[in-house]
Amino acid sequence: MLVSAKDMLTKAKANHYGVGHFNINNLEWTKAILQTAEELRSPVILGVSEGAGKYMCGYKTITNMVNGMLEELNITVPVALHLDHGSYEGAKACIAAGFSSVMFDGSHLPIDENIEKTKELIAICNDKGLSLEAEVGSIGGEEDGVVGAGEFADPDECKAIADLGVTMLAAGIGNIHGKYPANWPGLNFDVLAKIQEKTGDMPLVLHGGTGIPADMVKEAITLGVAKINVNTECQIVFAEATRKYIEAGKDLEGKGFDPRKLLAPGTEAIKEKVKEKMELFGSIGQA
Ligand code: 13P
Repeated sequence: MLVSAKDMLTKAKANHYGVGHFNINNLEWTKAILQTAEELRSPVILGVSEGAGKYMCGYKTITNMVNGMLEELNITVPVALHLDHGSYEGAKACIAAGFSSVMFDGSHLPIDENIEKTKELIAICNDKGLSLEAEVGSIGGEEDGVVGAGEFADPDECKAIADLGVTMLAAGIGNIHGKYPANWPGLNFDVLAKIQEKTGDMPLVLHGGTGIPADMVKEAITLGVAKINVNTECQIVFAEATRKYIEAGKDLEGKGFDPRKLLAPGTEAIKEKVKEKMELFGSIGQA
């Protein structure tokens, strides 16, 4: 059964480790992440962007697929199905479709409107026992057509949103989606420390997990980050492994064109990547 992300993140924050949020794109992605989490006894969050939601034929299709896998693959570790960077309407649609967690990304709105909409969604989520992530200070880079400039969140605005009763809070600290440019100055730990000071026990979320050096991820966890989002890195290793298979001519050998064979190296590569991240975040054995 899907669970809200609240308990897993409260535990993670209290015990100084991070729970991985891995974006899913299709059946192979979802299966690879769930099987790895089960094998390593780690809690996990499956992230679905609105674009990926459309691609996978809508939120109901996704809920049914994930619930089916939890049962058929005998997944016993805590799993949350979470809308990533949702609009207000998207969040409502996911709640109706059976997601256990949603993000409302009002970071591009004036703070008062962000607060108003976040409040409304908190009431709905509380009523249904779901978790809600809010965002302050947009995360840079491009994700599914949403382009953020990469701001530093204002710690006072973070407190204002945290005090509304959200489950977890994403705050821009120089992180960006996708690959980091060579001249990226790194995460701003001063800003993160101030946010954590103002928001206390609130589990903080680090978006743009792809390519953040391991020591910075660990430092972020010591400063209150309890959820780390990873998307692009899984896409890159999937593409690399698939390209290698085709370039080696394996799709031309016997029945190597069978999608179950063609997509297997990419699926294995996602498993390896998820394992590597769970080791780094410290979530192995925490389920
Ligand atoms: P990356 O694609 O940079 O890993 O970011 C993922 C993310 O933050 C999803 O919200």
